[in-house]
Amino acid sequence: MTANPLVEIETRDLRKSFGELTVLDGVDFKVRRHQVHALIGPSGSGKSTFLRCLNLLEYPDAGEIFWKGEPVRYRTMRPSELSRHRTKMGMVFQHFHLFPHRNVLDNVVEGPVQVLGTPTRKAREQGMALLRQVGLEDKAKAWPAQLSGGQKQRVAIARALAMNPEVLLLDEVTSALDVEMISGINELLTGLAEGGMTMVVVTHDLAFARQVADCICFFDHGRIVESGTPERVLEQPDSTRLREFLSSFRT
Ligand SMILES: Nc1ncnc2c1ncn2[C@@H]1O[C@H](COP(=O)(O)OP(=O)(O)OP(=O)(O)O)[C@@H](O)[C@H]1O
Ligand SMILES: [Mg+2]
Repeated sequence: MTANPLVEIETRDLRKSFGELTVLDGVDFKVRRHQVHALIGPSGSGKSTFLRCLNLLEYPDAGEIFWKGEPVRYRTMRPSELSRHRTKMGMVFQHFHLFPHRNVLDNVVEGPVQVLGTPTRKAREQGMALLRQVGLEDKAKAWPAQLSGGQKQRVAIARALAMNPEVLLLDEVTSALDVEMISGINELLTGLAEGGMTMVVVTHDLAFARQVADCICFFDHGRIVESGTPERVLEQPDSTRLREFLSSFRT
């Protein structure tokens, strides 16, 4: 069976264990270009590990990954191929992971200059344009410690975008934020989705998943137990596990 090149990322039977613990137990997944897939599911069900396997921050034990229909040969990749694979996918984390001793603009331009070889002046121009896009132009010279959580997350998103990724992988990017910061970040991500960015979004925010996602995948014990449109998955869950999971949000 050949893979479809309109599918940006696909996995087949992806497996990962840490010692005795099976964390990914055969994940079949695909996201098409310009689509947003939201991954939901209980804590420990393997969502973060799955995202990390997609950009090979973590190596799967078995299974296949395809990028635009081409197999990703993660078992035999050279470091340069690995680096190229990772730059296609921007990753944003719950806890921002900014460089604390670099100002905001330098956080954003570090990757383009060091990894892509973009000339510094050009990288800084592009970096300022991205800070404008995320509403932080006036903070270019600030240190990360001087920013609010929401502002730090905007910098982290600008930093991911600076690498010109084809897909954004977002792991609970609003979970560490105060309530009043969350809607601003969600609006920023919705704008990126509307602009055609392909995204895989791990979230516990079901209202946001419903608003932004073309497809919701429910993870449980290292498998995608159900997937479908937000309406179908959230309103007509098939499995008992998904019904239980959803009801835990309503109490
Ligand atoms: N590097 C690691 N070494 C050992 N165990 C790990 C490692 N990373 C994750 N795990 C374990 O794998 C399981 C799945 O973790 P993962 O972070 O993927 O879950 P998750 O679905 O993202 O959960 P949450 O919603 O709490 O973020 C957990 O039991 C976790 O303890
Ligand atoms: Mg997680």
